[in-house]
Amino acid sequence: MIQCNSQMNNIELIDNGKKSWEWAYSHMGIMNTIVSENLTRKPLEGLRLGLSLHVTKETSVLIIAAIKLGSKVALCSANPLSVQEDIAAFLSSKGVKVYAWKNETDSEYLDNLNKVLETSPQVLTDDGSNLHMMAHNKGVHYILGGTEETTSGITRLKALEESGKLLYPVIGVNEARTKHLFDNRYGTGQSTISGIIKLTNILIAGKQIVVCGYGYVGKGVASRARGMGAIVTVLEVDPIRALEAYMDGYQVKKINQVVDKADIFITCTGQKNVVRNEHFKKMKNGVILANAGHFDNEIEVEKLFLNSKKRYSIRPYLDCFHIYGRKILLLSSGRVVNLVGAEGNPPEVMAMSFANQLLSIMHIFRNYKRMQKKVYSVPENIDSNVAKLSLKHLGISIDKLTVIQKKYAKSY
Ligand SMILES: NC(=O)c1ccc[n+]([C@@H]2O[C@H](COP(=O)([O-])OP(=O)(O)OC[C@H]3O[C@@H](n4cnc5c(N)ncnc54)[C@H](O)[C@@H]3O)[C@@H](O)[C@H]2O)c1
Repeated sequence: MIQCNSQMNNIELIDNGKKSWEWAYSHMGIMNTIVSENLTRKPLEGLRLGLSLHVTKETSVLIIAAIKLGSKVALCSANPLSVQEDIAAFLSSKGVKVYAWKNETDSEYLDNLNKVLETSPQVLTDDGSNLHMMAHNKGVHYILGGTEETTSGITRLKALEESGKLLYPVIGVNEARTKHLFDNRYGTGQSTISGIIKLTNILIAGKQIVVCGYGYVGKGVASRARGMGAIVTVLEVDPIRALEAYMDGYQVKKINQVVDKADIFITCTGQKNVVRNEHFKKMKNGVILANAGHFDNEIEVEKLFLNSKKRYSIRPYLDCFHIYGRKILLLSSGRVVNLVGAEGNPPEVMAMSFANQLLSIMHIFRNYKRMQKKVYSVPENIDSNVAKLSLKHLGISIDKLTVIQKKYAKSY
């Protein structure tokens, strides 16, 4: 079910989506290798797959791969604002049940999650775990297993596991080193800055940028902002990561020490209320607030609405609030700025993330009977295989340990 907000007709949309899929596909060579290696075996034959992912051109590469390996697919978006409508139309033309459009209301977004569950999927692939949570709240018992793309989603699933309520095995794809070291760091680092620039066209050089959280996303964002000439300050609550940021050459401070100096705040924590109403009162006039974390609760957006005297949209996803005698600019309604303002993470890193997804879906479908109701890491052989395939596609060869070196590594 596609409810399209685009000005283009459906044929134009499908054609554009196909071109975007081809463009992403040409930068995601390892997906093709995995499909070719498994095409005759069709390891996903008969699988009903339900996905809640950002509907981007990179996601279309994962979905077409899953279809080629035998799966039937139903898809909704992992975020009400991140749908690329040409991709939704293209996937629909390929037989995918697509329940997604750009600018869904909150209730439409929830309805669309529900629609995916109504297709009785056997494996759920989620980004943020709203689909997993809905499946659990409804007590759905036909699901064999699932995968989860992002840090925040895995946190929720682990909490569910600890409370003994997890209904099926899940592989936390973000745990793969070939996922978080590249997608979160280089991918989100680049696309977050890209989203901020696309929405505002401001100069990054010379700006005082505060990066909240120095995890994998924060590290990427901080390094790309510094690379473009920003003066970067990092906020952390974890002493080791704070020290890491300091030794990487950033200023590390408490929020109250920088709140009145920053030109841009970028939240990357996976926590709620990191930038709050009490901070709005002290910010510089014209400060820009952007979020790269999964959920739209890192900036206290509802307080901007509640306490502003006046608010208006300057252009799509760039909103101005007159509050406490100053103007505060909010990007992408506080939702993931790299997916709403830009196109999401680049295909080269999504190739690694989605290779882990595809191989994990195959693993679950093959092994679910032997798995427990736990959150698993991506099996080590999958993670290292993705790295090897990626190097091969980049044309990079690396050395092997010699026999003497292998012995030396085990000596004491
Ligand atoms: N936008 C994207 O495309 C994208 C991609 C990957 C991950 N994510 C999301 O980004 C968020 C961060 O992911 P990550 O992999 O970097 O997680 P992470 O756990 O590696 O890092 C988060 C960091 O934030 C710090 N933190 C927590 N609360 C804080 C606070 N109040 N103030 C300052 N620092 C605080 C933590 O100590 C931690 O070091 C998650 O929500 C994740 O799901 C988004």
